[in-house]
Formats: sequence, structure tokens, C-alpha cells
Amino acid sequence: MKLSARTVKTERYPIHIGEEVFTVLQKELKHYRKTKSAIFLLTDSNTFRFCLPALVSKCPELGKAVVITIDSGEESKTLRNAEYLWKELAGKQADRHSLLINLGGGMITDLGGYVASGFHRGIDTIHIPTSMIGQIDASIGGKTGVNLDGLKNQVGTFFFPKGVYIWPGFLATLDPKHLRSGIAEVAKTALVKDEQFWSWLTKRSIEEMLAIPFEERFWKDLILKTIRIKQEIVSNDPFEHNQRKLLNFGHTIGHAIESIALQRDTPVLHGEAVAAGVICESFLSVEQTGLDPVELQSIIAWLMPGFGKLPLIYEDESVRMDLMQHDKKNRQQEIRFTLLSRIGQGKINQVCDPVWIRDAFRNYYDL
Ligand SMILES: NC(=O)c1ccc[n+]([C@@H]2O[C@H](COP(=O)([O-])OP(=O)(O)OC[C@H]3O[C@@H](n4cnc5c(N)ncnc54)[C@H](O)[C@@H]3O)[C@@H](O)[C@H]2O)c1
Repeated sequence: MKLSARTVKTERYPIHIGEEVFTVLQKELKHYRKTKSAIFLLTDSNTFRFCLPALVSKCPELGKAVVITIDSGEESKTLRNAEYLWKELAGKQADRHSLLINLGGGMITDLGGYVASGFHRGIDTIHIPTSMIGQIDASIGGKTGVNLDGLKNQVGTFFFPKGVYIWPGFLATLDPKHLRSGIAEVAKTALVKDEQFWSWLTKRSIEEMLAIPFEERFWKDLILKTIRIKQEIVSNDPFEHNQRKLLNFGHTIGHAIESIALQRDTPVLHGEAVAAGVICESFLSVEQTGLDPVELQSIIAWLMPGFGKLPLIYEDESVRMDLMQHDKKNRQQEIRFTLLSRIGQGKINQVCDPVWIRDAFRNYYDL
């Protein structure tokens, strides 16, 4: 793959993207070897197998890192695992001058970031995201967290890494269903902020997109465009008081869907839940924020063939409503959404009538 390293500079940390990220990382690691007491590398069982060998061959400095591996999957993003990792770090003589490198998808960067933020009141951390969601979303913006009793991201911190190193080549071993899942977050980002990006993205169907080899410039462009938008939003509002809430489009309903599935031990992928959430919240946008029904239809027409329809059932509606009421983004008992006034323009803090929310679900069942 011939992609040069691009660096998106942020106030807090650099995000490197492309083939040459490893040259940059190798140089950084030489510096860390002198300044850090020890370097730890967190992987899950898949990234241990599929990504670690490539990483170590490209960055021989990491051959000496202490590797800690946990099971893959969203079920691993727990306080129990955070405690396990803190004990592992302590048992392996980590101290406040240690460095934790997180090699994995969003589960690993969320959990590893959280563990780093808590260990000795915060140790330096680096993200090397290996999944689509990890590369375009989870590793950017400093949100860390774990799930609690099957509820998504109930415990977490804002904790910024020292750097993010993105190599699209890692995506080659990713199961296509996880690649697809990441595309839902790309779509969400375009929908709330950039109509031109949405037009560029939807020129191809999701199926056509998945057939594009990772060597092609397309993937780097897609990652860069998405990161640029997220980074612009996040740098203006790092702690989500205001505009960062734009990125929650599709997630109020999406998280409720994901939480129910997680509690029942039949997890759906984050992106699948987000795609369903984007469709439901687009229905809601027509009622509440004046989204043109023609634009609604174009959103559905692009997402539905790519993601299919989740088997949401009427009987779960009350649980879903209940979960949304307890969403940490809400105040009192109101359910607050980010909605669309048009494609490319999100609107935050929308309190919706529960009747309209239920209508949005019905519209989804009827698709
Ligand atoms: N912090 C944030 O801002 C933020 C934003 C979006 C999503 N998230 C979180 O991200 C998580 C979802 O991310 P995800 O889809 O990356 O989940 P994930 O980390 O569970 O990765 C998905 C699967 O792909 C495997 N995998 C990852 N990279 C691979 C590779 N290169 N080759 C082979 N297998 C690989 C993993 O082992 C896992 O089985 C959720 O927990 C979500 O809440 C966080």
C-alpha cells in the first residue's frame, strides 16, 4: 500500500494516517524507550493474531513491549476487565511513568484509554486503531469508557492520548461485517455536518464500497474526511457541552437497541444499531426539525440495502423508551436527540414528544 503519512494536527495530540505512520511511531518509541519506565501493549485475541505481527515487524522497538491480551468482543468492555488490566499492570511493575499502547478496535481503545486514565491517576497512552470504527471514530476525541450491567459506556472519562497512528492496511483482515459497521459512523458524520461528503460517499452503494481494495486511495480519503469533521467538532467542544452532541445523531435510539441486544446476550454490532438509529431519528427529524421527506427517503435508500433491517419488535418499545430516558445525555425525564434539519446539518438538544418517538419506531417496523 502506497499511502504517505498525513498528520491531522490537533491542539492536544497528533493523528497520523497512512503508510508511513510506522516510521513516525518507531521514532517516537525510541524517545519513549528513554523516557518511559516500561511500554505495555494491549490487544484483544483477534488483534493479537492479525495485527500485532505486522506492527512488530514494522516497528521492531515494540518487540520488547509487554503484551497483555483480553478476549475480543463488546462483552469485554467491562469494569471487571478494567480491574483485571490494572492488576496486570501493577503485577508487571507498571508505574506512573509507563506507557500503554492500545492496538485494536473501538472496544480496545475505549477500554485501554479508560484503564490508562485511571492507573496511577493517569499514564500516557497511544492508540493504534485497527478497525474502521476505531480509525474513524473511537480513537479520536478522547472519550474512554466501559459498559455497566449491559448499559453502554456508563462509566468513562475524557482522556486524550499522546498520539493516534492509523494504518488503513490493518483493515484487510477485518471481517467485512465490522467494516460495514464502521461505514454507519461515517454516514452519520457526513449527515450532521457535510452534505458534499454525503454526496461523495453515496455515489457508490455500500456493497460496491466494500469491494474496493484497501490499497486504493478511496479508503484513505474516507478516513481523512471523516476524521477531519470529527476533529473539527471535537476541538471546538472537547467535553461535549454543545456542538459535540452533533455526533450523537443516531445514537440515542442506536444505544438503546444495542443495550437491549447486549443484555439479552444477542449483541448487534455498534454500526448496525447506529444505522437503525439513524433511520429512526431521520423519521423523527421529518416531524421535529423539518427534514425534507425526499432526503429521508434517500437516507433510507442508501442505508437499508447495506445494513438490512434489524428485527426490532413492538414488545420492546417500553424498554427502549426507558433506556433512552436514562441515557446520560438527558436531563430530568426528557429524551434529547440530535436530529437533522437537512442533510449536512444536524440540530442538537431536540426534546421530542414520546408519541413521535413511537411513531418513528412504527415507521421503521413498516419499512
Ligand atoms: N470513544 C468513542 O468516541 C467511540 C466512538 C464510536 C464507537 N466507540 C466504541 O467502539 C466500539 C465498537 O468498535 P469496533 O467495531 O471497532 O469494535 P471491536 O473493537 O469489538 O472490533 C470489532 C471486531 O473486529 C476485531 N478486529 C479489530 N481490528 C481487527 C483487524 N484489523 N483484523 C481482524 N480483526 C480485527 C475485534 O477483535 C473485534 O472482534 C464500541 O464499544 C463503541 O461503543 C467509541
